[in-house]
Amino acid sequence: MRVRRAMLYTPGDEWTKINKAITLNVDSICMDLEDGTAANRKLSARATVCKALDELNFSKSEKLVRINAVGSGLEMDELREILPHLPDGIVIPKTETVAQVDLVSKVIDDFERTNDRPLNGIRILVVVESALGLLNLRDIAAHPRLDGIIFGAEDFTANIGAKRTVTGWEVLYARSTVVTYAAAYDKQAIDMVSINFRDPVTLKVESAVGASLGFTGKQIIHPSQVQPVQEAFTPSSKEIEDAANLIKAFREHEELGNGAFEYEGKMIDMPILKQAQNVIDRAIAAGKIL
Ligand code: COA
Ligand code: MG
Repeated sequence: MRVRRAMLYTPGDEWTKINKAITLNVDSICMDLEDGTAANRKLSARATVCKALDELNFSKSEKLVRINAVGSGLEMDELREILPHLPDGIVIPKTETVAQVDLVSKVIDDFERTNDRPLNGIRILVVVESALGLLNLRDIAAHPRLDGIIFGAEDFTANIGAKRTVTGWEVLYARSTVVTYAAAYDKQAIDMVSINFRDPVTLKVESAVGASLGFTGKQIIHPSQVQPVQEAFTPSSKEIEDAANLIKAFREHEELGNGAFEYEGKMIDMPILKQAQNVIDRAIAAGKIL
């Protein structure tokens, strides 16, 4: 599966921002037809996104398109227009039921079959941003075309009647729930947007908290957020070295028949080995070690 340490939104009708996005070496670019595009620009945005998919070189950046919610009345036309221009994936906002994912998946399936495209090539990511969406994750997360679960904090907060605070307590349960379901079904968990995009300190803290909760990437909305977020979701050189040393020590003790042992003042056993292996796996996925 692809890693998306940072997933950058660009409003679908803003050609100049899409052109800027492809120069930023960001893991994933999501051209947005939903809330980033005004209601009276939905049609022109669709045309701009198709043109971008056809004409621009995204290099290694993933090409995603966020359609409008299933039930908005726009989603079917958007899929029909966008799919022939071959995005890497479709992002479904405000996902609340697996039936919504199935509907989009069937349209993609028909497209792939009719056009002799590799089956399941075009992936789906869902944005979960309501109480109902969170409760239905058990079914949604298992969908075979699903690659990732994205947490939408602002809509979620509005939906449950909470108030956004700097501590983020009001979204902790939802964030951890998203991470848990993603882990259960081997999908990527992508954390909320930091909307205070002029505030690098908040971004750094929020990214670090997200990574420690188990998210492996984060949505972003501004070029200045690319580098700090991609760094926050890549293990540091020190973390990689510590993990490698711990794995080596574990293997040596294993040879001697010790399941648990003391290492730098701590008790080390199998779960700690798995945590160290996660660090190495993330570094490999990010291309930091081969
Ligand atoms: N993608 C690509 N380029 C972007 C960008 C984005 N999301 N946001 C800003 N830029 C570009 C600007 O066009 C500008 O380019 P330039 O220097 O070549 O002129 C540069 O980065 C600096 O931008 P800045 O002036 O600081 O911000 P802005 O006032 O132009 O835009 C926002 C601020 C919030 C409107 C803009 O960042 C944005 O549109 N973000 C995405 C919003 C979105 O898609 N929301 C829905 C999903 S949550
Ligand atoms: Mg939203």
